[in-house]
Amino acid sequence: MNTKVQQMPRHIAIIMDGNGRWAQERKKVRWEGHSEGARAVRRTVESCARLGVEYLTLYAFSVNNWQRPRLEVEALMRLLRRFAKKEESELMRQNIRVRVVGDQEALPKRTRAALDRLLENTASCTGMTLNLALSYGGRDDIARASQRLAHKLKAGLIEPEDFTAEALQAELSTGHCPDVDLLIRTGGESRVSDFMLFEAAYAELCFLAVKWPDFSEAHLLEALHSYGVVERRFGLTGAQIRRPALLRQGELETA
Ligand code: FPP
Repeated sequence: MNTKVQQMPRHIAIIMDGNGRWAQERKKVRWEGHSEGARAVRRTVESCARLGVEYLTLYAFSVNNWQRPRLEVEALMRLLRRFAKKEESELMRQNIRVRVVGDQEALPKRTRAALDRLLENTASCTGMTLNLALSYGGRDDIARASQRLAHKLKAGLIEPEDFTAEALQAELSTGHCPDVDLLIRTGGESRVSDFMLFEAAYAELCFLAVKWPDFSEAHLLEALHSYGVVERRFGLTGAQIRRPALLRQGELETA
Protein backbone atom coordinates (compact mmCIF):
# COMPACT_ATOMS: atom_id res chain seq x y z
CA MET A 1 0.00 0.00 0.00
CA ASN A 2 1.21 3.53 -0.80
CA THR A 3 1.80 5.19 2.60
CA LYS A 4 2.04 8.79 1.37
CA VAL A 5 -0.89 10.69 2.85
CA GLN A 6 -1.87 13.80 0.92
CA GLN A 7 -3.71 15.80 3.61
CA MET A 8 -3.33 14.90 7.26
CA PRO A 9 -6.40 15.44 9.45
CA ARG A 10 -5.60 17.36 12.65
CA HIS A 11 -8.31 15.59 14.63
CA ILE A 12 -9.40 11.97 14.14
CA ALA A 13 -12.29 10.49 16.14
CA ILE A 14 -12.99 6.76 16.20
CA ILE A 15 -16.07 4.73 17.13
CA MET A 16 -14.43 1.44 18.08
CA ASP A 17 -17.25 -0.97 17.30
CA GLY A 18 -17.29 -4.75 16.83
CA ASN A 19 -15.54 -6.06 19.98
CA GLY A 20 -18.50 -8.21 21.04
CA ARG A 21 -19.01 -9.76 17.60
CA TRP A 22 -15.27 -10.37 17.27
CA ALA A 23 -15.41 -12.36 20.53
CA GLN A 24 -18.62 -14.23 19.63
CA GLU A 25 -17.16 -15.35 16.29
CA ARG A 26 -14.29 -16.93 18.25
CA LYS A 27 -16.58 -18.48 20.88
CA LYS A 28 -15.09 -16.17 23.48
CA VAL A 29 -16.87 -14.01 26.03
CA ARG A 30 -17.53 -10.36 25.19
CA TRP A 31 -14.92 -8.92 27.55
CA GLU A 32 -12.22 -10.82 25.64
CA GLY A 33 -13.22 -8.77 22.60
CA HIS A 34 -12.75 -5.59 24.64
CA SER A 35 -9.43 -6.86 25.91
CA GLU A 36 -8.24 -7.47 22.34
CA GLY A 37 -9.74 -4.06 21.50
CA ALA A 38 -7.42 -2.47 24.07
CA ARG A 39 -4.46 -3.88 22.08
CA ALA A 40 -5.88 -2.21 18.96
CA VAL A 41 -6.11 1.04 20.97
CA ARG A 42 -2.40 0.82 21.79
CA ARG A 43 -1.46 0.19 18.11
CA THR A 44 -3.69 2.97 16.82
CA VAL A 45 -2.46 5.56 19.33
CA GLU A 46 1.11 4.77 18.36
CA SER A 47 0.35 4.94 14.61
CA CYS A 48 -1.56 8.24 14.85
CA ALA A 49 1.17 9.89 16.94
CA ARG A 50 3.84 8.70 14.51
CA LEU A 51 1.87 9.93 11.48
CA GLY A 52 1.53 13.42 12.99
CA VAL A 53 -2.15 13.46 13.99
CA GLU A 54 -2.60 16.20 16.63
CA TYR A 55 -5.80 14.98 18.34
CA LEU A 56 -7.18 11.46 18.56
CA THR A 57 -10.55 10.92 20.27
CA LEU A 58 -11.59 7.34 21.06
CA TYR A 59 -15.17 6.40 21.98
CA ALA A 60 -14.33 3.98 24.77
CA PHE A 61 -17.55 4.08 26.84
CA SER A 62 -20.84 5.81 26.06
CA VAL A 63 -23.47 7.12 28.51
CA ASN A 64 -25.67 4.23 27.35
CA ASN A 65 -22.97 1.61 28.00
CA TRP A 66 -23.81 1.79 31.74
CA GLN A 67 -26.88 -0.29 30.83
CA ARG A 68 -24.77 -3.24 29.66
CA PRO A 69 -24.51 -6.34 31.90
CA ARG A 70 -22.75 -5.51 35.17
CA LEU A 71 -19.87 -7.91 34.50
CA GLU A 72 -19.17 -6.33 31.11
CA VAL A 73 -19.18 -2.81 32.60
CA GLU A 74 -16.80 -3.97 35.35
CA ALA A 75 -14.51 -5.60 32.79
CA LEU A 76 -14.38 -2.36 30.78
CA MET A 77 -13.61 -0.29 33.91
CA ARG A 78 -10.87 -2.78 34.82
CA LEU A 79 -9.40 -2.52 31.30
CA LEU A 80 -9.35 1.27 31.60
CA ARG A 81 -7.54 1.09 34.95
CA ARG A 82 -5.04 -1.36 33.51
CA PHE A 83 -4.54 0.84 30.43
CA ALA A 84 -3.95 3.89 32.66
CA LYS A 85 -1.31 2.06 34.71
CA LYS A 86 0.41 -0.03 32.06
CA GLU A 87 0.56 2.54 29.27
CA GLU A 88 1.59 5.59 31.25
CA SER A 89 5.35 5.37 30.72
CA GLU A 90 4.96 4.50 27.03
CA LEU A 91 2.53 7.39 26.47
CA MET A 92 4.94 9.75 28.21
CA ARG A 93 7.81 8.43 26.11
CA GLN A 94 5.76 9.20 23.00
CA ASN A 95 5.01 12.70 24.43
CA ILE A 96 1.24 12.00 24.32
CA ARG A 97 -1.10 14.00 26.54
CA VAL A 98 -4.17 12.09 27.72
CA ARG A 99 -7.46 13.80 28.49
CA VAL A 100 -10.91 12.49 29.29
CA VAL A 101 -13.99 13.82 27.53
CA GLY A 102 -17.50 13.06 28.78
CA ASP A 103 -18.83 12.87 32.31
CA GLN A 104 -15.77 11.90 34.38
CA GLU A 105 -17.77 12.23 37.60
CA ALA A 106 -19.89 9.22 36.59
CA LEU A 107 -16.89 6.84 36.61
CA PRO A 108 -16.22 4.53 39.59
CA LYS A 109 -13.77 6.01 42.13
CA ARG A 110 -10.92 3.57 41.40
CA THR A 111 -11.14 4.08 37.64
CA ARG A 112 -11.24 7.84 38.10
CA ALA A 113 -8.23 7.76 40.42
CA ALA A 114 -6.16 5.71 37.93
CA LEU A 115 -7.16 8.01 35.08
CA ASP A 116 -6.51 11.16 37.13
CA ARG A 117 -2.94 10.01 37.69
CA LEU A 118 -2.49 9.39 33.97
CA LEU A 119 -3.95 12.82 33.09
CA GLU A 120 -1.73 14.51 35.65
CA ASN A 121 1.46 12.72 34.64
CA THR A 122 0.98 13.36 30.92
CA ALA A 123 -0.27 16.96 31.37
CA SER A 124 3.02 18.49 30.27
CA CYS A 125 3.36 16.31 27.13
CA THR A 126 3.33 18.44 24.00
CA GLY A 127 2.78 15.87 21.24
CA MET A 128 -0.53 14.30 20.25
CA THR A 129 -3.54 14.71 22.56
CA LEU A 130 -5.40 11.46 23.20
CA ASN A 131 -8.98 12.05 24.31
CA LEU A 132 -10.67 9.06 25.93
CA ALA A 133 -14.43 9.53 25.58
CA LEU A 134 -15.82 7.99 28.78
CA SER A 135 -19.41 8.06 29.95
CA TYR A 136 -19.71 10.22 26.85
CA GLY A 137 -22.80 11.21 24.91
CA GLY A 138 -22.87 13.98 22.31
CA ARG A 139 -26.30 15.26 23.34
CA ASP A 140 -25.37 15.00 27.01
CA ASP A 141 -22.16 16.96 26.43
CA ILE A 142 -24.04 19.71 24.54
CA ALA A 143 -26.68 19.86 27.29
CA ARG A 144 -24.05 20.16 30.02
CA ALA A 145 -22.14 22.83 28.04
CA SER A 146 -25.44 24.75 27.67
CA GLN A 147 -26.01 24.52 31.42
CA ARG A 148 -22.59 26.03 32.07
CA LEU A 149 -23.40 28.92 29.74
CA ALA A 150 -26.80 29.34 31.41
CA HIS A 151 -25.08 29.62 34.80
CA LYS A 152 -22.75 32.30 33.42
CA LEU A 153 -25.77 34.11 32.03
CA LYS A 154 -27.57 33.91 35.37
CA ALA A 155 -24.48 35.22 37.16
CA GLY A 156 -24.42 38.20 34.78
CA LEU A 157 -21.06 37.18 33.30
CA ILE A 158 -22.42 36.98 29.74
CA GLU A 159 -25.33 38.47 27.78
CA PRO A 160 -27.81 36.37 25.74
CA GLU A 161 -26.00 37.56 22.56
CA ASP A 162 -22.79 35.91 23.86
CA PHE A 163 -24.51 32.52 23.64
CA THR A 164 -22.87 31.73 20.28
CA ALA A 165 -21.75 28.51 18.59
CA GLU A 166 -18.15 29.41 19.51
CA ALA A 167 -19.08 29.98 23.16
CA LEU A 168 -20.89 26.64 23.24
CA GLN A 169 -17.93 24.87 21.61
CA ALA A 170 -15.59 26.24 24.26
CA GLU A 171 -17.78 24.77 27.03
CA LEU A 172 -17.90 21.26 25.53
CA SER A 173 -15.65 18.67 27.15
CA THR A 174 -13.72 18.76 23.83
CA GLY A 175 -13.35 22.56 24.11
CA HIS A 176 -9.56 22.18 23.99
CA CYS A 177 -9.68 20.58 20.49
CA PRO A 178 -10.30 21.76 16.95
CA ASP A 179 -13.29 20.27 15.09
CA VAL A 180 -13.10 16.60 14.11
CA ASP A 181 -11.75 16.25 10.55
CA LEU A 182 -12.15 12.52 10.10
CA LEU A 183 -14.60 10.26 11.92
CA ILE A 184 -13.96 6.54 11.54
CA ARG A 185 -16.38 3.82 12.63
CA THR A 186 -15.39 0.19 12.57
CA GLY A 187 -17.74 -2.80 12.80
CA GLY A 188 -19.71 -2.37 9.59
CA GLU A 189 -22.50 -0.04 10.73
CA SER A 190 -23.07 3.44 9.30
CA ARG A 191 -24.22 5.50 12.28
CA VAL A 192 -22.64 8.20 14.44
CA SER A 193 -24.30 6.91 17.64
CA ASP A 194 -24.31 10.18 19.60
CA PHE A 195 -20.56 10.74 19.10
CA MET A 196 -19.03 14.18 18.43
CA LEU A 197 -22.41 15.57 17.26
CA PHE A 198 -21.21 19.18 17.43
CA GLU A 199 -17.52 18.64 16.71
CA ALA A 200 -17.98 16.49 13.58
CA ALA A 201 -20.29 18.92 11.77
CA TYR A 202 -17.89 19.03 8.79
CA ALA A 203 -16.02 15.76 9.33
CA GLU A 204 -15.44 13.21 6.62
CA LEU A 205 -17.13 9.99 7.65
CA CYS A 206 -15.39 6.67 7.07
CA PHE A 207 -17.27 3.45 7.82
CA LEU A 208 -15.16 0.30 7.80
CA ALA A 209 -16.31 -3.32 7.96
CA VAL A 210 -13.33 -4.44 10.05
CA LYS A 211 -14.17 -5.21 13.68
CA TRP A 212 -12.23 -3.05 16.14
CA PRO A 213 -9.88 -5.74 17.56
CA ASP A 214 -8.64 -6.38 13.99
CA PHE A 215 -8.12 -2.68 13.21
CA SER A 216 -4.54 -2.17 12.05
CA GLU A 217 -2.36 0.56 10.59
CA ALA A 218 -3.38 -0.63 7.11
CA HIS A 219 -7.02 0.25 7.94
CA LEU A 220 -5.97 3.61 9.35
CA LEU A 221 -4.03 4.37 6.18
CA GLU A 222 -7.05 3.31 4.09
CA ALA A 223 -9.16 5.88 5.99
CA LEU A 224 -6.45 8.52 5.65
CA HIS A 225 -6.17 7.93 1.92
CA SER A 226 -9.90 8.31 1.45
CA TYR A 227 -9.74 11.52 3.52
CA GLY A 228 -6.75 12.88 1.61
CA VAL A 229 -8.42 12.78 -1.77
CA VAL A 230 -11.75 14.26 -0.71
CA GLU A 231 -12.19 17.97 -1.33
CA ARG A 232 -13.52 19.62 1.84
CA ARG A 233 -15.96 22.47 1.16
CA PHE A 234 -17.30 23.65 4.57
CA GLY A 235 -20.52 24.78 2.83
CA LEU A 236 -18.62 26.74 0.18
CA THR A 237 -18.48 25.98 -3.52
CA GLY A 238 -15.70 23.97 -5.11
CA ALA A 239 -14.43 27.07 -6.91
CA GLN A 240 -14.23 29.09 -3.66
CA ILE A 241 -12.13 26.38 -2.08
CA ARG A 242 -9.80 26.10 -5.08
CA ARG A 243 -9.50 29.92 -5.48
CA PRO A 244 -9.73 31.57 -1.99
CA ALA A 245 -9.72 35.02 -3.66
CA LEU A 246 -13.33 34.36 -4.74
CA LEU A 247 -14.23 34.15 -1.04
CA ARG A 248 -12.84 37.58 -0.26
CA GLN A 249 -14.58 39.10 -3.29
CA GLY A 250 -17.86 37.35 -2.44
CA GLU A 251 -18.05 36.18 -6.04
CA LEU A 252 -20.38 33.38 -7.00
CA GLU A 253 -19.24 30.26 -8.76
CA THR A 254 -20.49 30.46 -12.30
CA ALA A 255 -18.71 27.46 -13.79
C1 FPP B 1 -18.14 -1.31 21.17
O1 FPP B 1 -18.11 -2.66 20.75
C2 FPP B 1 -17.01 -1.06 22.07
C3 FPP B 1 -17.12 -0.65 23.35
C4 FPP B 1 -18.41 -0.40 24.01
C5 FPP B 1 -15.94 -0.48 24.22
C6 FPP B 1 -14.65 -0.05 23.57
C7 FPP B 1 -13.51 -0.38 24.48
C8 FPP B 1 -12.28 -0.79 24.08
C9 FPP B 1 -11.89 -0.83 22.68
C10 FPP B 1 -11.25 -1.27 25.05
C11 FPP B 1 -10.92 -0.40 26.19
C12 FPP B 1 -10.53 0.98 25.82
C13 FPP B 1 -9.36 1.56 26.20
C14 FPP B 1 -9.13 2.99 25.84
C15 FPP B 1 -8.31 0.87 26.93
P1 FPP B 1 -19.35 -3.61 21.05
O2 FPP B 1 -19.11 -4.31 22.32
O3 FPP B 1 -20.63 -2.81 21.01
O4 FPP B 1 -19.28 -4.58 19.83
P2 FPP B 1 -20.51 -5.34 19.12
O5 FPP B 1 -21.27 -4.28 18.36
O6 FPP B 1 -19.83 -6.31 18.22
O7 FPP B 1 -21.31 -5.99 20.22
